[in-house]
Amino acid sequence: MSMGHYSEQTPGFEVTKDWNGADQVVIRSPRGASVRVSLHGGQVVSWRSERGEELLFTSSKAIFKPPKPMRGGIPICFPQFGNCGTLEQHGFARNRLWTIDDEAPPLNHTDNNCKASVDLLLKPSEDDLKCWPHCFEFRLRVSLSMDGDLSLVSRVRNVNGKPFSFSFAYHTYLSVSDISEVRIEGLETLDYLDNLSQRERFTEQGDAITFESEVDRVYVGSPSVIAVLDHEKKRTFIVRKEGLPDIVVWNPWDKKSKTMSDFGDEEYKQMLCVDAAAVERAITLKQGEEWTGKLELSAVASTNCSDHLGYPCS
Ligand code: BG6
Repeated sequence: MSMGHYSEQTPGFEVTKDWNGADQVVIRSPRGASVRVSLHGGQVVSWRSERGEELLFTSSKAIFKPPKPMRGGIPICFPQFGNCGTLEQHGFARNRLWTIDDEAPPLNHTDNNCKASVDLLLKPSEDDLKCWPHCFEFRLRVSLSMDGDLSLVSRVRNVNGKPFSFSFAYHTYLSVSDISEVRIEGLETLDYLDNLSQRERFTEQGDAITFESEVDRVYVGSPSVIAVLDHEKKRTFIVRKEGLPDIVVWNPWDKKSKTMSDFGDEEYKQMLCVDAAAVERAITLKQGEEWTGKLELSAVASTNCSDHLGYPCS
C-alpha cells in the first residue's frame, strides 16, 4: 500500500468506516494534528490542528450520504468546475467511490520525508464513459506534515485515446470565526470572472478582499501563495498552489444559504470557500500526458504569518 510513514514506529494512519460504510483514511501526526479523507469523492472531510481545532468547515446540516458530496471539507471538482459544461455541477469525481492506490508511482519532485500520505485513485466507470468518453486515471495524494500542514497532489493522466480537456478545483471550505472579520491578501488588482454577473470580467481594486455580501468569483492568474486572515481567531490560512492558475472565492451569504437544504441559514458566517483551481482555461492532455495540481494549506497564528507569504510552494 502506497502510504508514507513518519517513521517505522509510528505508521500515522488508519482506515476506518464512516457511518455509511465507506472507507475513510485517517492520518495523525505524532504531535496530534490529523486529516480524514473519505473514499466517497476522495473528499477531505476533516483537518485538525495539533490543538485539536477543526480547520475546515462542515455544515451542521451536511448529508453524509452518496451520491452527493457532503457540504464541507474539500470536495474535488473534476472534470468540470461549476455548471459550464454538459456534466453535473462540479463534475462527477466528488460523487464517485475512489480506491486506495497500492501502486501509485512516485511523485516527480523530491517529497518531504516528514509527511505521512495516502494515495487514492479514480478511474471512470462505464457510466462515466457514456457521459464523458475519456479514459483517465486520477491519482490523489493526501499528506500531513509533521507540522500539521495539509497537502493535496492531484495527477490526472490521459491513459489512451484522443486529447481531452477538463477544469478542476479543490473546493476548500475554510472554517472562520466570523466572515465579517476575514480578509484575503494576494488577490488585489487581479482580474476576476464574476459568477454572479454571467462570468463578466472585472478588475479587483487595490485593497485586501473583505466580505459584506454574496461572493462567487474566479480570480484568474493568481499568485502561488495567498493568505486568508481571520482577525477574530488570530489565525491565518496560507494557501500555496502549483499548476492551478486560478482562485475561486465563494460565500453564499444569507439569501442563497436559505435555498441550500444541506446548509444552515446562518452558517455562511462561519465559512469561506477559497479554491485553488484551473477554471478560466481548461487543461488539455494528449494521449499519455499527465497534469499535476498541488495545494498546500497551513494554519498559523496571525502574528507569524508574514514570514510565510514569500515562500514558494515546496
Ligand atoms: C461554488 C460555485 O464554487 O460552489 C457556486 O461557484 C456554487 O456557484 C458552490 O453554488 C456550491 O456548489 P455545490 O454544487 O457544491 O452546491
